[in-house]
This record gives sequence, C-alpha cells and structure tokens, in this order.
Amino acid sequence: MSAQPTAVRRVLVTGASSGIGAATARALAADGWSVVATARRADRLDELAEQPGIEAYPADVTSDDDVTTLAEHLAATGGLHAVVNNAGGALGLDAVEDGDVDGWRWMYELNVLGTLRVTKAVLPLLRAAGGGDVLNVTSTAAHGPYEGGAPPAAPATGRPASSVVPLAAGLVALVVVGVLAPLDGLLETAASIVGTR
Ligand SMILES: NC(=O)c1ccc[n+]([C@@H]2O[C@H](COP(=O)([O-])OP(=O)(O)OC[C@H]3O[C@@H](n4cnc5c(N)ncnc54)[C@H](OP(=O)(O)O)[C@@H]3O)[C@@H](O)[C@H]2O)c1
Repeated sequence: MSAQPTAVRRVLVTGASSGIGAATARALAADGWSVVATARRADRLDELAEQPGIEAYPADVTSDDDVTTLAEHLAATGGLHAVVNNAGGALGLDAVEDGDVDGWRWMYELNVLGTLRVTKAVLPLLRAAGGGDVLNVTSTAAHGPYEGGAPPAAPATGRPASSVVPLAAGLVALVVVGVLAPLDGLLETAASIVGTR
C-alpha cells in the first residue's frame, strides 16, 4: 500500500524580491512548501516564480488595500499555513539627537505596522487551516545597542514586542510566533549595503 501523499503546506513570504526574503522563498519551495512571494517589485518576483512552487503576488505591505487584496487572493486559492514577515529595512545611523523623523516614520510604517497589517489579515486563514506559524524576521538591533543603532533598534524592537506578540496572546496553541534575527551581525543584502528605502 502506498503512503498517502502529504498535503502541501502554503506559506506567504513578504519582502521576497531580494535578500533574506528571496532566499527564504527559494529554500521553502525547495523543501516542498507552496510559496506565495510578495513585495512591490513585480519583475523580481516574476524571476523568483520561475522556480517551481513559487507564486508571485505583488503587494505593498504599507497599503491596506494591497494587503486586503492579497489576503482575499490567498483565501480564494487554497488558504495559508504560515507567514514569514520579512519585508523591512533600516535607515540611518544617526544619534538620537540627529534623528530623522521621516526615516523613523518610514521604518515604523514598514517594519512594525506592515507586520501588524499582514499578520492581522492572514490570522483568519491560519485559524481556518487549524493553526499555523507566524515568523518575524527582526534584527540584532532589537537585542542590544551598538553605535549608530538607534534608528533600526526602535522598529526592530517594536516588531516582536509591541505588535505581533500581543496580537498572538490568546491564540496559544493555534499560532506559533517565531522571531528570527540574523545573530552573526549583518548579512550582505540591499538593506545592509545601502540602508535606503
Ligand atoms: N541584512 C541584514 O543583515 C539585516 C540585519 C537586520 C535586520 N534585517 C531585516 O531582515 C529583513 C530582510 O532584509 P534584507 O537584508 O533581506 O533586505 P532587502 O534585500 O533590502 O529586502 C527587503 C525586502 O523588503 C521589501 N519591501 C520593502 N518595502 C516594502 C513594502 N512597502 N512592501 C512590501 N515589501 C517591501 C523589498 O522589496 P520591494 O522593494 O520590491 O518592495 C525587499 O524584498 C528586513 O526586515 C530587515 O530589516 C536584515
């Protein structure tokens, strides 16, 4: 008797057009996951989607409309078992007294509120699937200070501490919230090299 095929599990990876997100999408697809890869740059997502198991779905995580449409698409096409909240970036190495309010605002909109927006939108799908995983990619800046680290530290700390974890309290045994920070310092990606939006 042949074994029953294992049902394919579906994961949403945000910020999948480059760096850690693209590598995560590729690795998960190679591991048998059905990956929905999202970011703003559709051309890069299309390239990624040449790998079997990856679907490109462009969206801006700072847009309510985009995230709602993305969640509706996921609901209509098989639901979801996991999300990797990876879209984000860090801007500036200024001391607090020279802090750029617009830069900090950009990081909060993307790193903190983008994570909240996406997580809220997909939680009903994870519930409908009987449970799921929420994995947040954050930063070493959330774990300890370094020179010039104030701008990335604030939104990085906010990502696990003030947005998603309280959101998931009450969902014990339903959703696993993981927090992933590159612990060996910087990984060379667009964000780490140029540090721009
Ligand atoms: N590299 C490191 O050493 C390091 C260190 C600490 C933390 N991190 C964190 O790791 C995560 C990945 O960073 P990375 O190093 O791989 O940087 P990256 O190569 O610049 O990737 C950032 C990703 O976020 C997406 N993104 C940016 N704004 C977006 C928006 N409004 N809506 C949707 N997607 C958006 C970008 O795609 P589009 O531009 O196409 O939208 C891109 O795919 C980030 O959260 C970053 O803060 C990285």
